[in-house]
Amino acid sequence: MPDIPTNTNIFLVGPMGAGKTTIGRQLARQLNRDFHDSDRVIEERTGADIPLIFEKEGEAGFRKRESAIIDELTQLDNIVLATGGGAVLDEHNRAHLAGRGMVVYLSSNLASLLERTRKDKNRPLLHAEEPPEVILQRLLEQRDPLYRQCADVVIDTSRHSIRHVIKAIIQHLEHD
Ligand code: S3P
Repeated sequence: MPDIPTNTNIFLVGPMGAGKTTIGRQLARQLNRDFHDSDRVIEERTGADIPLIFEKEGEAGFRKRESAIIDELTQLDNIVLATGGGAVLDEHNRAHLAGRGMVVYLSSNLASLLERTRKDKNRPLLHAEEPPEVILQRLLEQRDPLYRQCADVVIDTSRHSIRHVIKAIIQHLEHD
């Protein structure tokens, strides 16, 4: 096992379909750390899935729950955390992420994001009147600067294999 600081949290940010959950889970397994996914924790605590939360409480209600969970999870030690694609919208979330761990922005091009979210039914923001490519493009334009603002490292997941991405994150952690 390489010489990896054991108290550095790893927080994954990036758009829907960038691979945060898949990469986060595998990374945590390799590093023998606990993995958390903020969306799953929100669903467990609420007893409702994300689409139902959006339906009953609107996006604002979901964001409130998201902020509380991000604040809580970022206070843990030695974890890998996958955040929801909109977590960086809130400045307090950004500060908690940037201040309490190493933030990895998993970036991706539009085509890959579209492909990876194509069959998804669990992302209410993509099920609106406009086509998903228009929505995803707009979200990317709005959020890319925010992801970059809090990131320590940016890795393009549309150009690299999962194995390569995980290796790059671990290398960054070793040299931090
Ligand atoms: C959202 C992304 C989703 C989830 C919610 C809102 C967003 O998470 O938090 O549907 O605003 O981009 P993933 O990025 O894990 O899909």
